[in-house]
Amino acid sequence: MSPYSLLTMEDLGVNDIQNILDDAYRFTTDKKKWKLPLENKSAANLFYEPSTRTHFSFKYAQSQLGLFVADVDTATSSVTKGESLYDTAKTLESIGYDLLIIRHPQDKYYAELENINIPIINAGDGSGSHPSQCLLDLMTIKEEFGKFENINILIVGDLLHSRVASSNKYTLEMLGANVKCSGPKEWMRDNSSCVPLDEGVKWADVVMLLRVQKERGASLTNMSDEEYLDKYGLNKQRYEMLKSHAIIMHPAPVNRGIEIDSSLVEAKKSRIFKQMQNGMSMRKAIIKRAFNIREF
Ligand code: CP
Repeated sequence: MSPYSLLTMEDLGVNDIQNILDDAYRFTTDKKKWKLPLENKSAANLFYEPSTRTHFSFKYAQSQLGLFVADVDTATSSVTKGESLYDTAKTLESIGYDLLIIRHPQDKYYAELENINIPIINAGDGSGSHPSQCLLDLMTIKEEFGKFENINILIVGDLLHSRVASSNKYTLEMLGANVKCSGPKEWMRDNSSCVPLDEGVKWADVVMLLRVQKERGASLTNMSDEEYLDKYGLNKQRYEMLKSHAIIMHPAPVNRGIEIDSSLVEAKKSRIFKQMQNGMSMRKAIIKRAFNIREF
């Protein structure tokens, strides 16, 4: 496995994270002033699960960086003939691709890719990790508050099935933020930091909402979408309880009217589309690291 792979946030120390954030900031501010030696490099995107934000922001970032990009369609490739993830990845490496971006429904799928020598960027594994989402979330928080130490982060909703929640909780605590959780008790991974939602909303500088992951089996018996919003979602009354400087985040896609009242998705305190915008610069910075390019 390449040391420049990014599989989980545990792969990065505080300095690594800082360097990636600095690079992403530079990609945002120094538009087109940079030139990286990537003209003869290539990447293959291998998405075994649907994606809009992650897939297409990686693809756009790759094209802006000058990479040759192959989008491997799992529905028309030899994956349909039963070729394993390892054999598919090894094939792409053998053809000559220099980088793999992989999303897969299996937790820790990358454990079977130990013998792949080109860098792998994990674009999401089951309910495990989503490091590029975590890094763009960090970028969004840093832009807002300038630091992580003592920032109060409330993560709300379906923590059990969320790879975003586990990556973000681990990393934000490592960086000195205070993290609490709220949501249905069935969906909490660790009850120790669990608080009632209204209390958490008043405490938070950042309210990070999570999608109810129905495709991973998340469901609450006898609870309608309206009841979920009322009990566990950000409705208009709770929006009014937020601190004046507080922000709302959500990795998206959003289930409007379930995790958040539809009218609040683009409210003044929402940074949901800002997160997606930051995803472009952040994914360029992650690719830069994967190719071990130090300078711009
Ligand atoms: N946030 C996120 O991972 O979105 P996609 O599933 O659309 O990539």
